[in-house]
Amino acid sequence: MAHRPGTTGPTGPTGPTGLTGLVDAWLDGYAVSRQLPVRRHDGVAEIEVASGGRRLEVVVTEPGPALLDATLRRLVGTDDVWVTVLTAAPWAPQPPDGVRVQVDDEVLMTLDLASLASSGDTTRAVVEEHGDRARAVILDGDGDGDGGGGGDGVAAVGWVALTGPPGSTTAVADRVWTAETHRRRGLGRDVMRSLQGWAHTRGARRGVLAASVEGQALYAGLGWRVAARMTSFAGSGDRP
Ligand SMILES: CC(C)(COP(=O)(O)OP(=O)(O)OC[C@H]1O[C@@H](n2cnc3c(N)ncnc32)[C@H](O)[C@@H]1OP(=O)(O)O)[C@@H](O)C(=O)NCCC(=O)NCCS
Repeated sequence: MAHRPGTTGPTGPTGPTGLTGLVDAWLDGYAVSRQLPVRRHDGVAEIEVASGGRRLEVVVTEPGPALLDATLRRLVGTDDVWVTVLTAAPWAPQPPDGVRVQVDDEVLMTLDLASLASSGDTTRAVVEEHGDRARAVILDGDGDGDGGGGGDGVAAVGWVALTGPPGSTTAVADRVWTAETHRRRGLGRDVMRSLQGWAHTRGARRGVLAASVEGQALYAGLGWRVAARMTSFAGSGDRP
């Protein structure tokens, strides 16, 4: 039966309480990865993302009907703000007039890094440390510098950021990407293994990331599981 967030029971893998903590850790790690501040107020989190077609992203987790309605209504008449709603269970969005569903096929995924064996897997990725975040990169081997990777010779790349206190550190993977001409050759898997390994050796015991559809296939093969559905909304450009 269709339902709205806030009316669900703890039917998802984590349940509402666990989901809130997981989403908070994801947002904190995302902010570290992108070097952007997160503002939290009145049950919402806001990040000035300034990428992916939006200036501001507002995030709410398992909102009750009143918070959901008030947050979505903020989008009416805007063209550079997204609201992303995270829920443990699928639901049937009914956005108010002037608001449309923008993306509804992304998910939040998590991995138990504590049980990750320090396997010493070798990968083709080189890890560059940047304080509490790291970038794993595989350069295009043909040396022509185009690599299909935006002209910088990058065949595949990804970031991971650490957040949380020692003993409960979370690793947030972000911006995982393989140049189109290099896809389905295991480069994304190598990048992820390197990021996971780096985070594990620095004490991270849990991984979190937001996954596109293509990403979901990659991460599922590495043991990541879906923790939440993500539904993003934007202003529809129509005045109600
Ligand atoms: C997602 C992405 C990084 C995967 O990179 P990749 O280098 O092609 O991935 P790999 O070759 O390492 O794939 C490893 C496995 O993941 C799965 N997989 C990866 N991409 C897949 C796809 N498009 N469809 C189905 N399965 C896929 C497969 O099981 C694959 O193994 P196989 O090729 O032996 O079947 C790449 O498609 C990409 O950059 N997409 C656009 C950006 C994006 O969505 N990034 C993820 C953000 S969360």
